[in-house]
Amino acid sequence: LRQIKTDDEDFGLMTYDPGFTNTASCRSAVTYIDGEKGILEHRGIPIEQLTEHSNFLEVSYLVLHGHLPTQKEYDEWVYDITHHTYVHEMIKRFMDGFRHDANPMGMLLASVGALSTFYPEARDTSDEFQRYVSAVRLIAKMPTLAAFAYRHSLGLPYVYPDNDLTYTGNFLSMLFKMAEPRYEPDPRIEKALDVLFILHADHEQNCSAAAVRVVGSAINDPFTSVAAGVAGLYGPSHGGANVAVLKMLERIKSADNIPDFLQSVKDGNERLMGFGHRVYKNYDPRARIIRGHVDEVLEATGKSSPLLDVAIELEKRALDDEYFTDRKLYPNVDYWSGIIYEAMGIPTDAFTVMFAIGRTPGWTAQWMELMNDEEFRIARPRQIYTGPRQTDYVPMGER
Ligand code: ACO
Repeated sequence: LRQIKTDDEDFGLMTYDPGFTNTASCRSAVTYIDGEKGILEHRGIPIEQLTEHSNFLEVSYLVLHGHLPTQKEYDEWVYDITHHTYVHEMIKRFMDGFRHDANPMGMLLASVGALSTFYPEARDTSDEFQRYVSAVRLIAKMPTLAAFAYRHSLGLPYVYPDNDLTYTGNFLSMLFKMAEPRYEPDPRIEKALDVLFILHADHEQNCSAAAVRVVGSAINDPFTSVAAGVAGLYGPSHGGANVAVLKMLERIKSADNIPDFLQSVKDGNERLMGFGHRVYKNYDPRARIIRGHVDEVLEATGKSSPLLDVAIELEKRALDDEYFTDRKLYPNVDYWSGIIYEAMGIPTDAFTVMFAIGRTPGWTAQWMELMNDEEFRIARPRQIYTGPRQTDYVPMGER
């Protein structure tokens, strides 16, 4: 390093890697991805096995603790999560303060951040017990906050958690319950949503997880750090893509319009949303699994989706088109998830909050991993300065 310094003032070698395409920011044992082969594993277990044999709470335990739970550990975990689903009444009032048309992601972002003020003890990030309770609170309360945001946007009263239902069944109840005594979720919809949550559980150093780590590295509690993750997810290039996909399909409207649309993408006027990924240069394995549940959900809801036909045809034509194959652009997780959410009756603006619920164990696990990292340092990237130097201040009247 010293040899490349041109003078004593010089910094020396610095990498310049906008978007961190080739920079590892941490060591992590949570998630393995092989983007060329389209492989995704959590703690070494392939996503295909987890979606087939497990459920979201067990996968959350796995992602967070690094191993599958024994029956006793699983029962305690489910008990702990189930007994932390309620939120403080003041959080409910906080939700009431938003405009009627507030975006549910904006509400989720603010309310997750607000949790840190309700649990100030979590600011002691060295306390192992507080770390665990905060993780439990985040995973348990995220569906409650998400459902409250959804109900607020429709002007409906909030539904309190029904802790006799499963994690996913309770979430469906908080979204859709209209009358006493109980909302009975359709098992096919419950399973499909649980699978969607599993598929989103973690995805290594994406924009939102990186945001969690950067904010956490300033020694922030998990609520504040995960709020940063929610903010990252909000954007259309990340979790907001599932919203953008549905809006794109609505705009295309009919298979007849697909050639013109694809030409416009190739001319660089717009992007084919739900296609392309920084890491996957092959079909996203999550997209493949979700695709397998689309028909089942449509059957359960008794709905036909005209957008499904457009999505199938659009995918087919894009996969046959050299523009996309040359650039290794394949469907990602967001291409199919919007179709399922729409069939479930979830409004487009609420799609990304579904993603946030699924991703919470991953964000929390990555925060934990950061806190336990012996090489822990505050995230502080450098820059290549391109502005002027040593210019003189000019008084207002002389400018
Ligand atoms: N439609 C059309 N062209 C695309 C697309 C797309 N969706 N994605 C990438 N390209 C093209 C680019 O124009 C570029 O072409 P060029 O080499 O001729 O200039 C090339 O493919 C490489 O694209 P980059 O933008 O450099 O790829 P990057 O890795 O930075 O971006 C991203 C990845 C943001 C996901 C991008 O593919 C995209 O915008 N996709 C659509 C949005 C989307 O679906 N996001 C969800 C991602 S998954 C998730 O967050 C859960």
